[in-house]
Amino acid sequence: MRAVRIHQYGGTETLQLDQIDTPVINTDDILIKVKASSINPVDWKIREGYLQDFIPYKLPTTLGWDVAGIVSAVGDSVTDFKVGDEVYSRPEISRDGTYADYIAVEADEVAMKSTKLDFAQAAALPLAGITAWECLVDVGQLQAGQRVLIHAGAGGVGHLAIQIAKAKGAIVIATASAKNQDLLTKFGADQAVDYNQGNLLEQIEPVDLVVDTIGGAVQSQSWALLKAGGMLVSIVDQPSEEIAKEHNVKAAFVFIQPSSRILRELNTLVEQDQLIPFIEHRFPLENIAEAHLQSQSGRTRGKIVIEVS
Ligand SMILES: NC(=O)c1ccc[n+]([C@@H]2O[C@H](COP(=O)([O-])OP(=O)(O)OC[C@H]3O[C@@H](n4cnc5c(N)ncnc54)[C@H](OP(=O)(O)O)[C@@H]3O)[C@@H](O)[C@H]2O)c1
Repeated sequence: MRAVRIHQYGGTETLQLDQIDTPVINTDDILIKVKASSINPVDWKIREGYLQDFIPYKLPTTLGWDVAGIVSAVGDSVTDFKVGDEVYSRPEISRDGTYADYIAVEADEVAMKSTKLDFAQAAALPLAGITAWECLVDVGQLQAGQRVLIHAGAGGVGHLAIQIAKAKGAIVIATASAKNQDLLTKFGADQAVDYNQGNLLEQIEPVDLVVDTIGGAVQSQSWALLKAGGMLVSIVDQPSEEIAKEHNVKAAFVFIQPSSRILRELNTLVEQDQLIPFIEHRFPLENIAEAHLQSQSGRTRGKIVIEVS
């Protein structure tokens, strides 16, 4: 089968289209014929070697951690899926990834794909969608009527977070540059904020929850935007407990884990027409390098999908 692998860490030139054996599945695994994958910033961060200390890979390794496809084999212990099922997943990041014709995935990391989504849309949802759900629901405990600020509302995580927060009945404030203000409103934001138009404090009334997708100065500015007792959840920079205490708020860091439970929750929102991924770019498997460069630009709106077969 085809697989885009890296044999060493580095730039996009390290992405190599190889012919390798189809993965052998364990008893708990299913083999998915990949129809589509999608790009997340973690893909090129791993390619560059930024996460070497955190996740030690044995190279060569196949990148990519979103998949939608068709079950082509099931392990002996698998009872929930059968050959031919249309499924989607954010597989375990330490195993070979989804830039390939086939991937072996543990069955408890997989959910059925909603019939309302095509394969490209389903591949755009798992990693970014699970992350958004964890920040807002599992960790942020967002309640109807609460105010939530979502930084980078035009991005992969942000545009799904806006929709999930709206589905939960929250009042959503989201940030983007001037050119993406209309998009924030289209995704459902009640207030679209241009982060280049001065101090956020002057533009945003206090919120109950901040979803920090940027870190650094954006995280630093966000503390003062929270109501007492509120929470800042970051997916990029571990927030300081000390600073949180000074502001009388809570802080948390989320690093996404595979979750078929959350995939099923996302499906429910999809079925209720409350959640739909936005795809700005599509590339064939052979053009992964171009897709990585697009993601690295930091300017992607919604998701970048890789159409595999
Ligand atoms: N911890 C985890 O489990 C986890 C999971 C998923 C993602 N992440 C991380 O979270 C970050 C976001 O991921 P993503 O997939 O959403 O990225 P993305 O899709 O590449 O984000 C691109 C978006 O960021 C916006 N943006 C850039 N600078 C901004 C700023 N200062 N303020 C507001 N918006 C800004 C851009 O909008 P404009 O062009 O309008 O600025 C663009 O639409 C990445 O660093 C990723 O690695 C972590």
